[in-house]
Amino acid sequence: MDNYQFGLIGLSVMGQNLALNIAKNYSLAVYNRTDSKTKDFIENKVTSEQIKATYQIKDFINSLQKPRKIMLMIKAGKPVDLVIDSLLPFLEKDDIIIDGGNSHFSDTEKRLENLADKGIRYLGVGISGGEAGALHGPSIMPGGNKSAYEEIAEILQSAAAKTEQGNCVGYLGPRSAGHYVKMVHNGIEYGIMEATAEIYDFLRKVLNFKPAEIGHLFADWNQDFSAYLMEITAEIMEKDDPETGEKLINIILDKAKQKGTGKWSVESALELGVAIPTINAGVNARLLSALKTERTANSQHFPQPDQPEVQAAEIIPQLKSLLYLTTIVAYAEGFKLLTAASQEYEYQLNYQEIARIWEAGCIIRSGLLEKIRSAYLNQPELTTLLTSSEFKQDLISAAKAAPQIFSLAAQAELPLPALQAAFNYFNSLKSAELPANLIQAQRDFFGAHTYQRKDKTGVFHTEWEK
Ligand SMILES: NC(=O)c1ccc[n+]([C@@H]2O[C@H](COP(=O)([O-])OP(=O)(O)OC[C@H]3O[C@@H](n4cnc5c(N)ncnc54)[C@H](OP(=O)(O)O)[C@@H]3O)[C@@H](O)[C@H]2O)c1
Repeated sequence: MDNYQFGLIGLSVMGQNLALNIAKNYSLAVYNRTDSKTKDFIENKVTSEQIKATYQIKDFINSLQKPRKIMLMIKAGKPVDLVIDSLLPFLEKDDIIIDGGNSHFSDTEKRLENLADKGIRYLGVGISGGEAGALHGPSIMPGGNKSAYEEIAEILQSAAAKTEQGNCVGYLGPRSAGHYVKMVHNGIEYGIMEATAEIYDFLRKVLNFKPAEIGHLFADWNQDFSAYLMEITAEIMEKDDPETGEKLINIILDKAKQKGTGKWSVESALELGVAIPTINAGVNARLLSALKTERTANSQHFPQPDQPEVQAAEIIPQLKSLLYLTTIVAYAEGFKLLTAASQEYEYQLNYQEIARIWEAGCIIRSGLLEKIRSAYLNQPELTTLLTSSEFKQDLISAAKAAPQIFSLAAQAELPLPALQAAFNYFNSLKSAELPANLIQAQRDFFGAHTYQRKDKTGVFHTEWEK
């Protein structure tokens, strides 16, 4: 058979599972740089004839219906350019390349332009859901050439996660819109993961909870949050280490790694002049966690704090509230970044649609997304989720938890960077008056940078020195 409907390159975890998912409804040819991976996949995972293994790029290309639809599920960065270069001699006008990896949005812009010159249509598609999502239904965030999207829409729809609102996929905008949205998705993920880790830290160090107790608590809270990250956290807390019989979480080294999407979100936010402190706290916390040797040595220089006396029953609802507030703020920061990016890069993003696509399949899926969708449905021009009627009252109540938790954390010398960043963001964004008047006075004092006045328009400078 030489008329396979879809082609997929890259057979690591994501590629293999996505291929199996797509093959439920469409035929596809697959290729991987290292042949042994393709062979292993075909021999051990593939049961249908819908998937054809190929071992030469030329064979791969010749197996596909025209215009060819080729998805790359490979390591982001240089490999994407190398694989595109290897495909080009065999491609024809109107063929479609779909980059399904976590490419930086600026790379996607360049690739799309270069390929358009050659008549090749390009899509930058963010895919979230990890290994299981790729197999059972991920959340899919496509951007780029619209006619190309329309031609592959049915295939992506068949593979995507499903909710009552439809398939968790939809055209998000031109050029790099899909990869930008995926980057911000991952940024939000960094913020929520860090906030969850801080609550875990408080529970184990201040309240002396054991992992199983923490697991039960998260499972209980998740009846309200309906969040994937909370669900897996509850499961993680229950897992035993087969070697030692101890809880596995107690044995895992406290050094977090990162692949770059969180850092890119922060870089892009700074570039656009948007504050995303909760997401940034997630990135910074991972950087500090990586200094394990230094942290361990430093800890010898300082006395251990006395743990405060607390009643768990009194504190637990407060912790839940603070995590709720921080989660809302992480989403709010992400959507505010998307709004700025949409303006700057002319993506014309539809926030209600993005929330809908994130409602299932992806890592940051949670019950809150339904409310976010409703907030943007009611007010498409919303400047921040924090003031929406869906969240305003919740935030006012949740914020009441902060003083007690932060005071206990200060006594226990426990860092809570994401929880505090979110609380500060909330307080800043709802402050009519911030101390930036002093910043302006200082700038004008040492650098004649000028300032504006409250009582009249114009730009002013003062000779400050006596
Ligand atoms: N893992 C996840 O949970 C997840 C979730 C969402 C998105 N993503 C994104 O999806 C993409 C695939 O992720 P993954 O975890 O499945 O795999 P990965 O570890 O990111 O990449 C491995 C794949 O890239 C190929 N590759 C690497 N360098 C290459 C080169 N120079 N030329 C040709 N092929 C090359 C590998 O081929 P060989 O076998 O020959 O080495 C292999 O197929 C990535 O962009 C990733 O960031 C991953």
